[in-house]
Amino acid sequence: MRFTGHSVADSQAPSRDAAIAGLLDACFGGAHEGRTFFKQVPHRRLLAWNGDGLVGHVGMDLRAVRVDEATVPVLGIVDLCVAPAARRQGIGTALLQAAEERAEGQSFALAMADDPRLYHRAGYNLIHAADVTFLAIDELRCHSVVRRDLSEVFMVKRLAGNAWPDGPIDLLGHLF
Ligand SMILES: CC(C)(COP(=O)(O)OP(=O)(O)OC[C@H]1O[C@@H](n2cnc3c(N)ncnc32)[C@H](O)[C@@H]1OP(=O)(O)O)[C@@H](O)C(=O)NCCC(=O)NCCS
Repeated sequence: MRFTGHSVADSQAPSRDAAIAGLLDACFGGAHEGRTFFKQVPHRRLLAWNGDGLVGHVGMDLRAVRVDEATVPVLGIVDLCVAPAARRQGIGTALLQAAEERAEGQSFALAMADDPRLYHRAGYNLIHAADVTFLAIDELRCHSVVRRDLSEVFMVKRLAGNAWPDGPIDLLGHLF
C-alpha cells in the first residue's frame, strides 16, 4: 500500500483526478456525478494506492469556524472512502489518522457521520450540536444559509488545546 498527498494548489493531474472521481462514484453511489468533489474541492487530499489502483481517499478542509464567541481552527474530514474490495483492512482508519497528523495548527477534527463506528474507534465523539449554521449547497449551487440540529451526526476529535467549547456553531461555509 502506498500513500500520496496533494493540495488544491498543486498542478493538475488528469489521470489522478479521473481515479478519484471513479472511486468517489463507486463508494457514494454516484452522488458526486463524476466530479472529484461533492460540494467544494477540499484543500488537501490523501490517497491510498494498491499498485496503480486507487483504493482510498480522504479530503481535508482546513477552516476556522465560530463556536459562540470563539474562533476555532478545524480540520473537516471530507469524503473518506475505501474501494469496496479493499475494505476492513484498516485503510480507512489509516487515512483518517494521516489526515489528522497533517493538520498542523488545527485544534479539532470534525466529521459528519451517519455511521459513527470508524470515527468512534478513532477517538471522535458526537457533540451536542443543536444549533449549527452553514451554507447549503445542492447540485453545485448555493441556495441558502440554514440552521440545523446536527447532534446525531456531528463528531469531534480534539487534536490540540482545550475541549470543544459550548454554544451555537457557525461553520462559516458549507457542511463537510
Ligand atoms: C467507511 C469506510 C471508509 C471504512 O473503510 P475501511 O478501510 O473498511 O475502514 P477500516 O478497515 O479502518 O475499519 C472498518 C470498520 O469501519 C466501520 N465502518 C464500516 N462502514 C462504515 C461507514 N459507512 N461509516 C463509518 N464506519 C464504518 C466498521 O466498524 C468496520 O469494521 P467492522 O466491519 O469490523 O465492524 C468504507 O466502508 C467506505 O468507503 N464506505 C463508503 C463511504 C462512506 O460511507 N464513507 C464514510 C463517510 S462519513
